[in-house]
Parts: sequence; structure tokens; C-alpha cells
Amino acid sequence: MKKVLIAAAAAALMVPAAAMAERDGATVYNTKCGVCHASGAANAPKMGDAAAWGPRAAQGMEALMATAKKGKGAMPPYGLCMDCTDTELQAGIQYMLDNSK
Ligand code: HEC
Repeated sequence: MKKVLIAAAAAALMVPAAAMAERDGATVYNTKCGVCHASGAANAPKMGDAAAWGPRAAQGMEALMATAKKGKGAMPPYGLCMDCTDTELQAGIQYMLDNSK
């Protein structure tokens, strides 16, 4: 337990701008990505849609991260999560992949 707290404190110190512990994938998804990815708005691959996510998952996380960062079509850079760290952005992607198999 103590170790966890120390690790969390260290992480917070390394990212002074965020000043908070990093958000997990579910939080990032629910507060940011879900706006489009829950409903499939603007043709976003819908969470839970294995047919939409399967070929994307096959590209690998590195490729998905590269696309998510710079945006693609109606997908805005960083999925509009401008204050997301790379770790948080990746957690959001992983959360959608995990729930779309
Ligand atoms: C404004 C709507 C919108 C928001 C908000 C949004 N997305 Fe998207 N996203 C899209 C659309 C539309 C596509 C499909 C792009 C295409 O294939 O042309 C997409 C595609 C993607 C893809 C697949 C990229 C690829 O290579 O095919 C990933 C990964 C992704 N979004 C992650 C995220 C994450 C993570 C968030 C939240 C941080 C997010 N998106 C928020 C609209 C959105």
C-alpha cells in the first residue's frame, strides 16, 4: 500500500501541469471519447462494435496512437482530450479495444 502511494506521489510530481493522478481508460472514455464513440457520431467506430474495431486493433497500438494524436477525418487530434497525456490517451484507446471484441 505504501509503495502504491509513493508511486502515485512520484507520478504526480513528474507531471506538475496535470497535478493529479492520471485518469484511467474508463474515465478518459466516459468524459472525452464517448461523446462520439458511444453513439458512433460522425461515423466514429462505436465502442462494442467488433467489426469496426477489429481491423483497427490489428494495426497495433502504436499505429492507433499515431492516428489518435494527429486526428483522422472527423476524429479530432487527441479525441478532443487536449489535456490528455499519452498514457491517458492510450488508456482510452485500450478501454475501447477491450470492450469491442
Ligand atoms: C468528435 C468526435 C470524436 C471524439 C470526441 C473522439 N473520436 Fe475517435 N474517432 C472519431 C471518428 C469519426 C473516427 C473514425 C475516423 C476514420 O476512420 O475516418 C475515430 C477513430 C478513432 C480511432 C481509430 C483510428 C484509426 O486508425 O482508424 C481511435 C483509436 C480513436 N478514434 C480514439 C479516440 C480516443 C482515445 C478518444 C478520446 C480521447 C476519441 N477517439 C474521441 C471521432 C471522435
